[in-house]
Amino acid sequence: TLDKPSAKPLLDWYDRHHRDLPWRVSPDMAARGVKADPYHVWLSEVMLQQTTVQAVKPYFARFLERWPHVTDLADADNDAVMAAWAGLGYYARARNLKKCAEAVAREHGGVFPNTEEGLKSLPGIGDYTAAAVAAIAFNRQAAVMDGNVERVISRLYAIATPLPAAKPLMKEKVALLTPAARPGDFAQAMMDLGATICTPKRPACSLCPFRDDACQALKLSEPELFPVKAAK
Ligand code: ADE
Repeated sequence: TLDKPSAKPLLDWYDRHHRDLPWRVSPDMAARGVKADPYHVWLSEVMLQQTTVQAVKPYFARFLERWPHVTDLADADNDAVMAAWAGLGYYARARNLKKCAEAVAREHGGVFPNTEEGLKSLPGIGDYTAAAVAAIAFNRQAAVMDGNVERVISRLYAIATPLPAAKPLMKEKVALLTPAARPGDFAQAMMDLGATICTPKRPACSLCPFRDDACQALKLSEPELFPVKAAK
C-alpha cells in the first residue's frame, strides 16, 4: 500500500481498462512505436470540450474523412466547416478551429508546435487544449485539468477548499502526480477514471486503482463530498 498517491497503479489500471477511442493510441500500440497524430489529438480535444465522447465520435470521423490533414482544414470553405460542425454546439469552437488550422498551415508549415507554450500561441488554444495536446501528442509533462480530473484529484487529496478557488491547488497536485515517462497516458487515465469509476454520484471505489489507501476521500468514507462546491 501507498501513503501518497503515485501514478503507477493508475497507469497499470489504464493498461488494462483504457477506453478504445478513435483518436487514441492505446498503450500496446504505443509500445509498438505508433505515435499519436497531433491533428487528431487537437481535433478531438476541441470537440470534447462541452460534448460527450459518444456524441463526438461520428463528427470526428466525418471531419477526418473530409479533411484528412490540418492543411485541408485550413483550405476548407468556412461555411462547409460550420455546416459539418452543426449539432456539436458552441459554434465559437468551430470558428477557432478553422483559425487555428490556418495558423498551423500558414505560420508553422502545417506542423503543430510540440510544446505547451508553442501550442498556447495558436488562436483558440487555451490552457486545457495546450496541455492536453502537449501531453497526449508529444509526451510533454504537462498538467492536464478538466472536470473529470478535478473530481479525481479533489478526492485523492480530500481538498476542502471549494471550487473554483481550489483550482490552482488542484493543478499543483496534478503537476506533482504527472509522471515524466507517460504523461499522455496519465492524463487520459485520469479522464477515463473520472468518467467510469470516480463518477460524481456513487463512485465505484472498490474498482479504483487508488483504493489501497492513497485516496483521502475514501479513507474518510465520503468520496461524494468532493469536490467541495462554493455555497450559493
Ligand atoms: N475527454 C476529453 N479529452 C479526452 C481524452 N483524451 N480521453 C478521454 N476523454 C476525454
